[in-house]
Parts: sequence; C-alpha cells; structure tokens
Amino acid sequence: MADGSSESKSSNQMWGGRFASGPDAIMEEINASIGFDKKLYAQDIRGSIAHATMLAHQGIISAEDKDKIVHGLNTILSEIESGSFEFSRRLEDIHMNIEARLAALIGPAAGRLHTARSRNDQVALDFRLWAKEELQKTEKALTALIAAFLDRAEEHAETVMPGFTHLQTAQPVTFGHHCMAYVEMFGRDRARVRHAIEHMDESPIGAAALAGTGFPIDRHMTARALGFREPTRNSIDTVSDRDFALEFLSIAAIAATHLSRLAEEIVIWSTPQFGFIRLSDAFSTGSSIMPQKKNPDAAELVRAKTGRINGSLIALLTVMKGLPLAYSKDMQEDKEQVFDAAENLELAVAAMTGMVRDMTVRADRMKAAAGSGYSTATDLADWLVREAGLPFREAHHVTGRAVALAEEKGCELADLALAELQAINPAITDKVFDVLTVEASVASRTSFGGTAPAEVRKQIAWWRTRN
Ligand code: ARG
Repeated sequence: MADGSSESKSSNQMWGGRFASGPDAIMEEINASIGFDKKLYAQDIRGSIAHATMLAHQGIISAEDKDKIVHGLNTILSEIESGSFEFSRRLEDIHMNIEARLAALIGPAAGRLHTARSRNDQVALDFRLWAKEELQKTEKALTALIAAFLDRAEEHAETVMPGFTHLQTAQPVTFGHHCMAYVEMFGRDRARVRHAIEHMDESPIGAAALAGTGFPIDRHMTARALGFREPTRNSIDTVSDRDFALEFLSIAAIAATHLSRLAEEIVIWSTPQFGFIRLSDAFSTGSSIMPQKKNPDAAELVRAKTGRINGSLIALLTVMKGLPLAYSKDMQEDKEQVFDAAENLELAVAAMTGMVRDMTVRADRMKAAAGSGYSTATDLADWLVREAGLPFREAHHVTGRAVALAEEKGCELADLALAELQAINPAITDKVFDVLTVEASVASRTSFGGTAPAEVRKQIAWWRTRN
C-alpha cells in the first residue's frame, strides 16, 4: 500500500477532503520554498564555495574535501544552468536541494560543507547577495531613464507648455523644466538605491543559527571573498534582519509611485484633447474595434504595477512586524515579494525609458495650451508690483479684474486694449504687453531652479556631470 492512492485514503478526516494525500504532503507543500528560491542558486553556490574555502583555510576541513566540494558545486552550477538539474520539493529549498545533490556527486565529504553554518545565515547571505545585485541593476536602469529625460529636456529647454496646479492651467513653464522635475525624482530614487546597497554591504555568513559558532572561522575572509565591505556585527540580528528586503521594497514603492505619476501624465498628454505628445507605435497599441485609436497601454501598465509593488511592501512589513528574534519560518515569505517587485520595477523603468526616448513632443499644441487659461496673469500682477509699485495683494486684485474682462470678451489678456487695461488701473503702460506672452513669462523666471530656459540649461549641465 505504498502507492499514492492508498495514501489518499489516510488523509485527515477533519479537513483532508480536498487533498489527495495525507497531512505530510500538505506539510511539504506549505513548507517548500524551492518553487521560488531556486532563483538563488548562483548566490547559494557562490556562498558555499566561499564558506568551504574559508573552512579549509582555517584547517576546519581538509584541502581534499574542500576541492571535492568546490568541484561538486561547480558541477551543480552547470547542471542547473543547462537545465538538467532536478529540483525536488521533498528537499524543501534551494539550500537542501544543492546539498543533497552534492552528496550524490561527491559522497560523505559533502556533509562537511555545513560545518559552522546554518540555513539561517545561508539564506540571509543568498538573499542579500541577490538583492545587492538587483539594486545594482536598478541603479543602472534609473541612470538610463535619467539620461533619456536629460536629452529630452535639452531638446525642449525652450518649448513652452502650461504648468498646472490642481490640473488647472497655472503658469507657463518649459517642457524641459517639466522633464527635469522627473530627473530630480528619479535621481533621489537612485540615491536611495545607492544608500541601500551601502547598508546591505555586510556579510551574514558565519552567524550560524543565531549564536555564532565555536569553530575558528574567519568571517572577514568570507566577507571579502563575496564582495562585502565587512561581516555583520551581531549574529542574532544577522539571521533576524530583513531590513534590506524592506528597504528594497520601500525604494521600489517610491520609485513606482514616481513612475506612476509620469505614466498618468503620459496618458493625459497623449489624449486627443491634450495632444501634447504622440507615443511611438513601439509603445502603444491599437483597438480591436475602433480603428482610430492609439492606446497608451504601456503607460497604463506602469501605473498599475505600482499596486503590486506597494502591496509587496505592505505584505513584508506585515510578515515581519510581530516576529520575535531570531529566525522564524515566516521569513521564508520574504522572497516572492521582493522577486515580484524587482521584476516589475525593472520592466516599468525600461518601458518608461523607451516611452520617454521615443515620444513625439508636439510643441505647437503645448504652446497653444500654454497661452490659454490666462496663464500669464501672475506676470501681469508681478509687473504691477515691479513697474507701478503696487502692493502684491492690490496687483492681484487689479489682475483679477483684467482676467474677468478678458473672460467676458472671450479673449486672452494680451488681446485687451491698453485703454481697457488703463481703465482698470491707470498706472498700466504699453510696456505691460512685453510680459504677457508665454515666452516672456518663462524667460523672466530666472530664480534658482526656475523655468527660464537659461536656468533649466544650468540644471541640465549640473545633472550631466552626475549621471
Ligand atoms: N527556506 C528557508 C527560508 O527561506 C531557509 C531557512 C530555513 N531555516 C530554518 N531554520 N528552517 O527562510
């Protein structure tokens, strides 16, 4: 009665109805992480080679055993990479799958590899190595996105568009300036990435289960071999800590939020009503029923991916919040969240970089929109303060009356006759018309960080030396 069907008859009477086999199979299913942590195979093997090399160097295992172990691990690496390795759920996770295969390949020497370590420090090591490498990729991807924006900003340092608050036309700005706002945002994301890499640059291996070990290991040696700055300083913290994963997810959530705001703008800008940009065919799709449509699907999906990335952050924060020190199996739930967030962030940044690089900027549409909606009203008020000596509050009031008049006549501020303006305030001269154009408006905003083309070019130059 050793076959599966006989086992099914012994499934739990209280809750086993839907299960084909007994509770040990359920235990296996809930316990196994191999389905997702096999992604860590390269880090696991690298960590084990460094550990075995250190053990031999310290005289804890023999040089012959170390050679066998290293050779066996390299064989396993090629087996996994060629697809011939058989992963087994019965062996729970990547660590035990590799160790079992090592035993099959080299015999009893394999059993010496796990001296002075535990799966607790092993998994902390593998996952950190993975997260560090992933963040290095994120850093590069953000650099490419920033570069794409810098090029568009340079190209459009003089292109006037409406600046918005409340999505209502506020004041004219340049498209280059707007692009540079995203450069600042993604630049901060990248700074957070760099900081997180620095934080996680400590090697966990050698913390063992939680208390350290009595074997004369050299944790500085393994740290160096694995490219870490130094070993972690507290063995309990080392196997309890998932801050590096949480930091990864918080950074990803903030970056995804920035990407989502950009995606939202792209969706709005590419509508026929706005018409500020045209997306390239490469980053849009057609409709199966409405032949005239070009949909910004990539932008919409980038916007949507923020949901799952934010979800991953909340999921892991929730997993960690009640855990007593040190390791608990709950922590096995960390990996899928980070893997999923990483994969989707990578995709979102790449898609955005492509969209920004490829989109056609419709300067004529932007300019037309920039001039509508009385966007230079603030310029009129500022002129009254500067040239006619009015207190700003009074200038604001005078300008409000001018806007009301223009609205009544259905024209722009610059279309009002001088006499009409003078009827509102006699101090107004024909010089005022110099500031009522959108070009004059943006050119006048020369304060540090302002929208004047000369100032935007300065900010582009600053970033060029830092990207
Ligand atoms: N698969 C486990 C994880 O991801 C490895 C660590 C297991 N440690 C333990 N004490 N059971 O967390």
